[in-house]
Amino acid sequence: MTNKILILPGDGIGPEIVAEAVKVLDCLRKDFGLGLEMEQGLVGGSAYDETGHPLPDLTLEQAGAADAVLLGAVGGPKWEFLDISVRPEKGLLGLRAGMGLFANLRPAILYPQLASASTLRPEVVSGLDIMIVRELTGGIYFGHPRGVRTLENGEREGYNTLVYRESEIERISRVAFDIAAKRDQRVCSIDKANVLECTELWREVVSRVATEYPQQTLSHMYVDNAAMQLVRAPKQFDVMVTTNMFGDILSDCAAMLTGSIGMLPSASLDEHGKGMYEPIHGSAPDIAGQGLANPLATILSVSMMLRYSLDQEAMAVRVDSAVNRVLEQGLRTPDIWAEGDTRVGTAEMGDAVVAALADQ
Ligand code: IPM
Ligand code: MG
Repeated sequence: MTNKILILPGDGIGPEIVAEAVKVLDCLRKDFGLGLEMEQGLVGGSAYDETGHPLPDLTLEQAGAADAVLLGAVGGPKWEFLDISVRPEKGLLGLRAGMGLFANLRPAILYPQLASASTLRPEVVSGLDIMIVRELTGGIYFGHPRGVRTLENGEREGYNTLVYRESEIERISRVAFDIAAKRDQRVCSIDKANVLECTELWREVVSRVATEYPQQTLSHMYVDNAAMQLVRAPKQFDVMVTTNMFGDILSDCAAMLTGSIGMLPSASLDEHGKGMYEPIHGSAPDIAGQGLANPLATILSVSMMLRYSLDQEAMAVRVDSAVNRVLEQGLRTPDIWAEGDTRVGTAEMGDAVVAALADQ
């Protein structure tokens, strides 16, 4: 079977890190028999520069025809002055909405080899393995009305709408419980039900769905407390499920527990398991083009793609093991480097992972 993958390098370090992930995919195709057809497309600021829009129609068409999408990163100072409707981020949000990718899975796993890279004490983070399930196509990111209006007295007022339907809360809850079923059977739902009616409904609906999963434990936490607990005692969490914006914020926080945001992949899935895979970090324009970026989050995104969209668990395990192997070898890009490690660049890291794929 041939899997069609759309590759969207995007902006900043996107092209560099995606190139390393493509090396991994190529190796799986040539040496391990993965049926694969890769095609490139445009998204973000680079798409704007070429076509005048951060998400050209062609890209959405390509995404629709693909079995999975691999994305680098979008955005950068070059495009910050643009109107919000054509900023690079709109390309990403448009892909999420256009492909119906409502379920965003963001694992935060601490590799034992990197325990010292975390800003938290090793005993607080060692063994950390959290899965954040973030709702991705609703909430305040997409709610209407939205905008900036001028009041009668001439003062301007900005406004956005936090809105969730029961069906949206139900389906993301199910994703969280289904994932927890394969883990430690514990789901913590994060809301602000003490202040926001919308998330009071969120809490009610998650609790209702939980009755379908009697073997699982559901707990609830307010988002402010969750932020605190994540840095105080993060290992108390197994699966966290939350809204689009809370998930955005908490996943950056969780990422840093693991030492570097440069290590964490993500999957964004639709109803049928088709998905877009991307590192959770941004386009890092400050280090773009210098071969300094860590490609491991993107390579681990390939592993998630193999697992969740292409049904290739064995190959996913092979990629995970290869990443483990290069960390064992002491190879580190600057973001995870410490005294005594071997400092490598983006391409060297990618090459080392490819070499480790065969060497297992
Ligand atoms: C993320 C990013 C995006 C988001 C931005 C780039 C639009 O921060 O994927 O977490 O806010 O969702
Ligand atoms: Mg974010």
